[in-house]
Amino acid sequence: MQNQDSNPIDPTSEDLLLSNHNYDGIEEFDNPMPGWWVWVFVACIVWAPIYVIGVHQMGFINSYEDDLANDQMELAELRTAYETANPVAEVTSEAIAAYIGVAEHIEAGAAIFTTNCAMCHGALAEGLIGPNLTDDYWIHGGTHQDLFHVITEGVLEKGMTPWGAVLSVEQRMQLVSFIRSIHGSNPPGAKPAQGELVTPNG
Ligand code: HEC
Repeated sequence: MQNQDSNPIDPTSEDLLLSNHNYDGIEEFDNPMPGWWVWVFVACIVWAPIYVIGVHQMGFINSYEDDLANDQMELAELRTAYETANPVAEVTSEAIAAYIGVAEHIEAGAAIFTTNCAMCHGALAEGLIGPNLTDDYWIHGGTHQDLFHVITEGVLEKGMTPWGAVLSVEQRMQLVSFIRSIHGSNPPGAKPAQGELVTPNG
């Protein structure tokens, strides 16, 4: 048991020693900041003038505005690159013609068709909810460009979804290539003709 008169804080304990500052009887414990803290503080003081000179005088450190301008330039470059890769301008029939009859593109188009289109146009494009895509009749025109346009823009009010935001220009051209490759395949269960008779000529 402790003696009641004795100070519960041991004045000789190492971290409670008083410093010898004494202001009108007010004393101060000798309790310095931890070393790492002091060094962070010193580093901040050293860094401050370098920063001020770097940003405001000599410009070897980017200011917020510089960083913003750089990032905006990068963004503009990204946009230009994206627009070059995905032109807004209508893709011409001539451009699509380069995809027609090329095995690699037909295969790619077939795979995209199975995943995205077969549920409405049928596994063999014989027609289901959407029209038969193997015959000579087209509701929205029969050129390569017409097909590309319908795939891109869709016909929402008739239930054909637009694919422009989902599939790349190349993928949509591959779809046209695939649809051309199955022309006249006369699949079983073909849906009756819809639209106008068109001889596909691109
Ligand atoms: C949700 C069902 C649905 C999906 C999915 C769908 N289509 Fe269609 N598609 C339709 C319908 C319905 C029409 C007919 C639109 C009309 O009557 O104007 C159509 C029309 C078309 C036409 C025009 C046919 C014509 O006669 O002019 C093409 C080409 C076409 N789709 C291709 C595709 C391709 C390629 C895909 C896959 C990327 C696809 N569609 C996915 C429902 C769909």
